[in-house]
Amino acid sequence: MYNKAILTLFFLNLSWVITVPIKKGYRPATCQACHPIDENKINIHIIPHSHDDVGWLKTVDQYYYGTKKHIQYAGVQYIISSSIEALKGHPDRRYVQVESAFFWKWWQHQGDDLKQEVVELVNNGQLEIINGAWSMNDEAASHYHSTIDQFTWGLRFLNDTIGECARPKIGWQIDPFGHSREHASLLAQMGFQGLVIGRLDYRDKRKRQQEKNLDFIWQGSVNLDNSNLFTTMFPDFYGTISGFCFDVLCEYEPIIDNENNPDYNVKQKVKEFARKMDEYRSYYKTTNFLVPMGGDFNYQAAEINFSNLDKLLKGFQGHDTYNVFYSTPSCYVQAVNDEVRKKSLKLTTKTDDFFPYASERNAFWTGYFTSRPTSKRFERVGNNILQATKQLTSFSKINGNDKESSIINLREVMGIMQHHDAITGTEKQAVAKDYARMLTEAIKYAEVPTGVIIGDLLKKRPNDKIDLKLKTCLLANVSICETTTNDRFVVAVYNPLSRSVTHYVRLPVDGTNYKITGPNGEEEYDIFDSLHKFDYVQEKSKPNSKELIFASKQLPPLGIKFYYVEKLKNLRNYQPFEDITENASFGTKVKGFSISYATGRIDRITIRGLTRDMTQNFYYYSGTSMSRASGAYIFRPTKSKAEPITTKRISVKAKKGKLVDEVLQIYNSEVTQIIRVYKDNEAGYIEFDWLVGDLQTNYHEGKEVITRFIVPDFTNNGIFYTDSNGREQIKRTLNTRSDYKYDPSDEPVSSNYYPVTSKIVIKDEEKDFEVAVLNDRAQGGSSLSDGVIELMVHRRLVRDDGFGVGEALNEEEYGRGLFARGQHYLTFGPISFSPAFER
Ligand SMILES: *[C@@H]1O[C@H](CO)[C@@H](O)[C@H](O)[C@H]1NC(C)=O
Ligand SMILES: *[C@@H]1O[C@H](CO)[C@@H](O)[C@H](O)[C@H]1NC(C)=O
Ligand SMILES: *[C@@H]1O[C@H](CO)[C@@H](O)[C@H](O)[C@H]1NC(C)=O
Ligand SMILES: *[C@@H]1O[C@H](CO)[C@@H](O)[C@H](O)[C@H]1NC(C)=O
Repeated sequence: MYNKAILTLFFLNLSWVITVPIKKGYRPATCQACHPIDENKINIHIIPHSHDDVGWLKTVDQYYYGTKKHIQYAGVQYIISSSIEALKGHPDRRYVQVESAFFWKWWQHQGDDLKQEVVELVNNGQLEIINGAWSMNDEAASHYHSTIDQFTWGLRFLNDTIGECARPKIGWQIDPFGHSREHASLLAQMGFQGLVIGRLDYRDKRKRQQEKNLDFIWQGSVNLDNSNLFTTMFPDFYGTISGFCFDVLCEYEPIIDNENNPDYNVKQKVKEFARKMDEYRSYYKTTNFLVPMGGDFNYQAAEINFSNLDKLLKGFQGHDTYNVFYSTPSCYVQAVNDEVRKKSLKLTTKTDDFFPYASERNAFWTGYFTSRPTSKRFERVGNNILQATKQLTSFSKINGNDKESSIINLREVMGIMQHHDAITGTEKQAVAKDYARMLTEAIKYAEVPTGVIIGDLLKKRPNDKIDLKLKTCLLANVSICETTTNDRFVVAVYNPLSRSVTHYVRLPVDGTNYKITGPNGEEEYDIFDSLHKFDYVQEKSKPNSKELIFASKQLPPLGIKFYYVEKLKNLRNYQPFEDITENASFGTKVKGFSISYATGRIDRITIRGLTRDMTQNFYYYSGTSMSRASGAYIFRPTKSKAEPITTKRISVKAKKGKLVDEVLQIYNSEVTQIIRVYKDNEAGYIEFDWLVGDLQTNYHEGKEVITRFIVPDFTNNGIFYTDSNGREQIKRTLNTRSDYKYDPSDEPVSSNYYPVTSKIVIKDEEKDFEVAVLNDRAQGGSSLSDGVIELMVHRRLVRDDGFGVGEALNEEEYGRGLFARGQHYLTFGPISFSPAFER
């Protein structure tokens, strides 16, 4: 019977248990080999490293193999091989390996002898694995589930291949564009002993240099005890000090240590290096600091690097002031902590995060919070499917039918997607396409066994034959799903949450009359028009014009329900949207909203019987093309005032159904939205389902679209709350930074933007009333005036912002500007009730 079925996987606000395959504790001393500290000198820890992006200007594979040299001269396979070669027979040298995605690609192709040599280099402390996650994840748009998953996967690979000494102790986030508190908290909980960060506001960095606060303690959580993490940063950026780059890529003179050679320059080089160190030492409280030697895709011919570094270090032997030696981050962290303890030094504690990051007056890196909205959504879909398939494959083991291998690829691709040029949207267009290709393939592969696993669970007798072919409809967002155009199909709804929920299933269909049979008999349903005809979409299957909606009620935790859907002939159980002709209300007395006929916009909302005036509208900022332009990383509007998407009355149509009422608003060719309310008494929210795209730009100005929720007569005193990677909330204050002074007038809008990974909240303490908006993907957002929440939904720009991508962020699909569809869920209530947690 179940010959054709689709799997609807949904995960709303799911709480995930943290499981990481490492335990707190120490590792045998043999894993570490630190060169001695000289207590009478300044100790300079030289850290040879290569920063290898898991995709950016080139795809992951192009970087690994070193193809497309004209784009970037970078081949990670050579980097790993040559740096390992350079360590052999040179016990003084040290090197760190960071990205497990690349290391794994390399490892698979090595012979046993070399693998054994690598294990020895790790065991003797010459090769230190740091970070160890699949990629160096972004910290703004990434969700904590995915961070945990990609660490779990990287660490598992390292443990399984190299063993205990490969367990990283130090986090290495030298390039992500701002740093999140939740990330520090996660690392602390995973047993990491330190974290090296790279990008923070330039004023913050300068102040920390002046006040000797580059080393500090980060309190990662206000609620958890074990969340404090020693955190540090380089005196400067993560690249090699100017003048000391010896690589094949660099133009500097090598070091010549033969005193008889007329070009002998060791003394000169040592003097130059020491001069730089004189500056750096003033930034630190202790007599230790880190000096990175490396950079993007460095060490492709590692022997050149190392042999010159050897000579430089040798030149420092017997130096009066400086003890310069090869080191690793864990040796550094240990040395600093020893000194702090011995001298009873006091490190400062930080309790918030490093967002937003500005690298200069007009360069706030807040555009990437929203850049590439459809890839950000697809990544979240990937996470949902990974969580569900992880659970299902673990059920499969119960039946002695291990399907774990089918999700390996999805785990890996999701690890890659977390990279700070992937989920951020800061890669070249061709690379973005490759990420989407990999994720699509991984999802398809991962869902193959789900039918078998669920079939096994359904069997009453071992010999029962149940053959489910389950499919996820990845293009349901544009009303495409092949299966649901059949006359008969089965919908499987799986609840990966640890609590019972009601989920509304929405299926693209072409029929007008259906019969839906679930475990409790026949189900009620509505058939509405789709949000859009999606007639611009060119795919193998045609978009459907309608949506079938029914409730899967009271789904038990980790439970599955099946619904048998049958298309009926003759009858017509569907009405199209109709124009509204006067002010109109929707929903029930407990939960609903009203639409003003004059404006076509929402003007009042009721939730849990509480009614408030409230409105919502779309606006846009014009992204500047002046240098520093608004681009993939940077958000820089020409004016601080956002213009409404249209000043005309918007076209409004509506339909009231049995389960749900919907209002369709057509602003113009760029913006369409459905506002909907489900009429049960469960979910206390109003849903805003938006479609924004084909944004029209001109030569000088890009377009950056926001949605704004406006609550009149609301006092939040410039304070709002945004979540940190989908977990704890962080308090934000307009125009204010807790750690340093800045001038908000430089960029009044952009400097107040924060990452909203899942939720933004404003509170009127006096009225005991809070309003929260939850989103379905990461976005940039703010509350620029009291009672107002805004979220950026889409951006299309005309210039590159000059941070390396070399392309304007100008996404197209089907021959026009990219459309993005997404949902916002608005809820409110008394602060004491904390409605933001409901969904
Ligand atoms: C690491 O690998 C060892 C050897 O295979 C295994 O016994 C151990 O359980 C692994 N540790 C973790 C935390 O997975
Ligand atoms: C090492 O080599 C890379 C190129 O692979 C170069 O860019 C880098 O500056 C070199 N680093 C040092 C410390 O010599
Ligand atoms: C519609 O609602 C507005 C307030 O939102 C009100 O001013 C106006 O009088 C109403 N119109 C009618 C016809 O009720
Ligand atoms: C719909 O989802 C697909 C796959 O995730 C994505 O490529 C596409 O851009 C999305 N379309 C819209 C309108 O959001």
